[in-house]
Amino acid sequence: MLEFVDLQRSFGDVVALDGLSFAVAPGELCGFLGPNGAGKTTAMRCAVGVSAPDGGTVTWQGRPIDLATRRRTGYMPEERGLYPKMRVHEQLVYLARLHGMAAADAAASASAWIDRLGLAERAGSTVEELSLGNQQRVQLAAALVHEPELLILDEPFSGLDPLATDVMSEVLRERARAGVAVVFSSHQLDLVEGLCETVAVIANGRLVLGGRVAELTSRGGRRLRIEVAGGTAWTHELPGEAELLAADDAGATVLLPPGEDAGPVLDVARRTGRLLDVHLEQPRLSELFRTAVGNGATPGDEDPT
Ligand SMILES: Nc1ncnc2c1ncn2[C@@H]1O[C@H](COP(=O)(O)OP(=O)(O)O)[C@@H](O)[C@H]1O
Ligand SMILES: [Mg+2]
Repeated sequence: MLEFVDLQRSFGDVVALDGLSFAVAPGELCGFLGPNGAGKTTAMRCAVGVSAPDGGTVTWQGRPIDLATRRRTGYMPEERGLYPKMRVHEQLVYLARLHGMAAADAAASASAWIDRLGLAERAGSTVEELSLGNQQRVQLAAALVHEPELLILDEPFSGLDPLATDVMSEVLRERARAGVAVVFSSHQLDLVEGLCETVAVIANGRLVLGGRVAELTSRGGRRLRIEVAGGTAWTHELPGEAELLAADDAGATVLLPPGEDAGPVLDVARRTGRLLDVHLEQPRLSELFRTAVGNGATPGDEDPT
């Protein structure tokens, strides 16, 4: 497990981390979410030893993150960190060697990731010659080239085009399936909802929502959307614990508490007229995010280029 326990970090008067705790298991792909300034980058920097916390700990497999663990960690920093004048293949080999790989393994791994990430024609280019999207692919390759068992990526999707986004998603999913603990920060809530089994949402340096996405979205009960010929007068006679969430000309949305049968609600509605449409709606991760971090907060600005 990668475990953040009661992490504290201040910069002067600014409290960046205020008792942050959450964990990511091997094989887990965790989306790390929060508004701008919530403390995501600071927490990731503490995890990889770039920044030291004022209090609390980050551990991997129960032990503080030391140099040996850092060698088995892949990190994509927010500020990115490639050598602009070094050629792609050469650079990846160099980074793999820095993480302790033997020369032949480093060369083979660099070539494999270059192919996998669609950079084959660019292997001999310097990084500064590449488009931003391709630089980002090299950045991902740099985080992966030494076959880490722990991946910590700061906004890896930022600035990616749709194709590169697909490649990135697939690689992260595949790494998690291979047993790697993967945590990445993002503002793209819909992407995270589709990609991640778990999320950690922070605000003001603390965890405000965390766990399995499927559980979080079903925890609040099910929403039943019902459209009946003859209007929505039936919503005045809702049975049991069912609660009216919204009604319009076409129909109504009713909240069913966990475990409550939808049948009685449908019976009441059916008395008004013919059922035109019935379906269950789940809250989106973006709604849960807004509720958890407080109204008015936005997931932040994502440069769509
Ligand atoms: N090196 C620093 N010096 C001063 N303040 C910082 C520094 N790093 C982060 N902060 C502050 O800490 C808070 C958390 O920042 P950060 O971890 O970058 O958030 P996020 O990555 O979630 O946007 C912000 O208020 C930010 O301004
Ligand atoms: Mg950040």
